[in-house]
Amino acid sequence: MTDASTAVATAHPNIALVKYWGKQDEELVLPLADSLSMTLDVFPTTTCVTRCPGAPADTVTMDGRPASQEAARRVVRFLDLVRQRSACDDRASVATRNTVPVGAGLASSASGFAALALAAAAAYGLGLDPAGLSRLARRGSGSAARSVFGGFALWHAPGPHAPDPDAACYAEPLAGVRVDAALVVVLLDTGPKSVSSREAMRRTVATSPLFPAWLAATRLDLRHMRAALEAGDLATAGEIAEHNALGMHATLESADPPVRYLTEQSHRVLEQVRALRTAGAGCWATMDAGPNVKVLCPGDQATRIAERLTTATGFPAVVARPGPAAALHPGAEA
Ligand code: PMV
Repeated sequence: MTDASTAVATAHPNIALVKYWGKQDEELVLPLADSLSMTLDVFPTTTCVTRCPGAPADTVTMDGRPASQEAARRVVRFLDLVRQRSACDDRASVATRNTVPVGAGLASSASGFAALALAAAAAYGLGLDPAGLSRLARRGSGSAARSVFGGFALWHAPGPHAPDPDAACYAEPLAGVRVDAALVVVLLDTGPKSVSSREAMRRTVATSPLFPAWLAATRLDLRHMRAALEAGDLATAGEIAEHNALGMHATLESADPPVRYLTEQSHRVLEQVRALRTAGAGCWATMDAGPNVKVLCPGDQATRIAERLTTATGFPAVVARPGPAAALHPGAEA
């Protein structure tokens, strides 16, 4: 234990170019395959964790209001894990500020649990290295393992013979990326999703006849994506990213009962992305557990592509560039 009782951390969302979809272990949040993402420089989450010796329960607020029961339950479960690992059983007060709409497939759980992992680890004196923080963040929400890092990150799935699967399952920064990339986030719907990614993942793995094919394909996509990023070949990276995302959504549509995150509006944006491509622009779409479409493109064309997508569809678009690693606020320890 250190004697710091308060810590504040900020983390940014990440968008996977090769998706994490499907777990081999629900409790430990171990994915079936590796995934690869870009951390954004927009929509940060800032979280303050204060240990409260003697308090009877944890308190959780989001944007100044008490968190929903479901959100508070996830945070308390996460804090229980932190308490288990520290020599301290104090309850805590957790205050989170999001600038990303929560639950709309814009990776608020990634930035949220990365910020919470960092702040809670500091407040409870866990002394974790970046891989340890990534493992901890993963337990809150799988994709949060990657938001611990800035730029591009690779999250390792443990192999079938890993002696300690938990230890083998962490993200790390991807070295050697030679593309200048941006993601244009087209904001269609900022409401919470109807089916959580946790439930959708479980249902897809259990019932979609397409899932085994997608899993085999995503492992190849990962290898080819790495090679393309290292070769500075954004066009190949973009094609792989779009194909990988559409494949993931095909597994969702073929689950029983189906999960449909993409709306008519998402498809309108997808058509515009294809139209821009036909007209010679380098841009490729990716979508997560929600209707919003993110468009990968060369950094120096991002503003123009965002304007053209907004003009064509009427939806607002935000340009995101590779963002920073999760960080503690200096001097916030009390
Ligand atoms: O971290 P979770 O459990 O919300 O899973 C999110 C998975 C996707 O965002 C759909 C894909 C990914 O790799 O981020």
